[in-house]
Amino acid sequence: MTGLRYGILILILLILFGCDTDLISTKSSGTKHDKIALGRYLFYENRLSINHTKSCGSCHAPELMFADGYRRSVSPYGENLIHNSPSLINCVELQFLGWSNPNIKTLSQQIERPLYNEHPREMGLHKHIDEVMAYLMKDSLYNHLFKRCYPRDTFPYSANHIIECIVAFESTIHSQKSPYDLYIKGDSSAFNESAKRGLKLFSSATLKCIQCHTPPHFTMATLAKNPDSVYFNIGLYNVGGNHQYPKNDPGIMEYTGRESDNGKFRVPSLRNVLLTAPYMHDGSVNTIEEVIDLYAAGGRNVTWGSLQGDGRKNKNKSILVQGFTLTQEEKKNLIDFLAALTDSSILRNEALQNPFRIR
Ligand code: HEC
Ligand code: HEC
Repeated sequence: MTGLRYGILILILLILFGCDTDLISTKSSGTKHDKIALGRYLFYENRLSINHTKSCGSCHAPELMFADGYRRSVSPYGENLIHNSPSLINCVELQFLGWSNPNIKTLSQQIERPLYNEHPREMGLHKHIDEVMAYLMKDSLYNHLFKRCYPRDTFPYSANHIIECIVAFESTIHSQKSPYDLYIKGDSSAFNESAKRGLKLFSSATLKCIQCHTPPHFTMATLAKNPDSVYFNIGLYNVGGNHQYPKNDPGIMEYTGRESDNGKFRVPSLRNVLLTAPYMHDGSVNTIEEVIDLYAAGGRNVTWGSLQGDGRKNKNKSILVQGFTLTQEEKKNLIDFLAALTDSSILRNEALQNPFRIR
């Protein structure tokens, strides 16, 4: 009897003092599904940028495998950002996000950059988030969606909620249905002979691609905890013969302060790589053929302009990038293998498309 009385008393206290009602019922909280639905609208919402011209989806477009096709992305005011836009497919798997800041390890940490960066701006919302809230609150679509996600909040509009929902949506940009995935699951018809030979070359002790571009996502950035296994100098620059990358963008050295980190950038995933040209952190390599020629040469010799210098001789270059020789046939094999990392099912996935276009 006493047990029952205590039980009733605790229940009354919980209700009276508004303790976390999740203990009693979870029905009053928005579901993950609700948050993904709101996040999808916000991801494609131009009013989330300072002058209403850009959304996350402008630089991470579904038809371009969630990249943007520019060498370096363009800000709402038309300035070039410092870097090429990476594809967001499977980004939830990454242990290290972005090209050169080893401190960004989660999607929630990462999103602060596009939202609030100032030099240059991506969305440009630093000190402007309240204006955005004012727009969203006036829109009956968002009124409905925010209340559905956060029914217990009297004022459901906040930067944290925007971040939570966009991250929930980003985490669904996930796919592993390329011919390569079918092949390793045992469907040998998914791979032709040329792609099979390409995989062998990719994994060989001569080319060494697989040591940095390691499956399942063909990047150590989904596997390693130690930045030393994730960031490398592959010999793109050697400005003035001084072992430097361009001054305004020296790789992780910007964060570690170590000269030996000059020119080290994160190994990108090679999934869908044939659809995400141009390549490298600064988009300075136009085609996949050029990428292979660059590795075959053991780096890049820049022969003219202000960035002149022989990247092959950069002392910070990884010892894994030594150069090799391929026949035309072998080069084709390697490209056929990289093509087999393309997952076109993602392009047809309605749930990832811009909802403003479908309506
Ligand atoms: C103006 C273009 C632009 C906009 C707008 C933009 N991004 Fe990006 N995004 C980039 C670029 C460029 C990078 C590479 C950043 C770096 O490392 O310097 C990037 C990197 C990322 C990454 C890391 C991916 C990886 O492979 O490590 C994620 C995740 C991401 N953006 C999500 C978002 C989200 C969410 C939004 C909207 C809030 C957004 N981006 C808006 C251009 C943009
Ligand atoms: C030492 C590690 C390492 C090895 C070995 C390596 N890569 Fe890379 N790869 C990288 C890094 C780091 C980058 C990004 C460099 C940058 O932007 O400065 C990169 C970039 C790329 C890109 C551009 C992708 C994009 O989205 O921009 C392709 C394609 C590529 N590598 C293919 C290969 C192939 C093919 C091989 C084997 C011949 C190979 N890599 C060997 C580390 C490596």
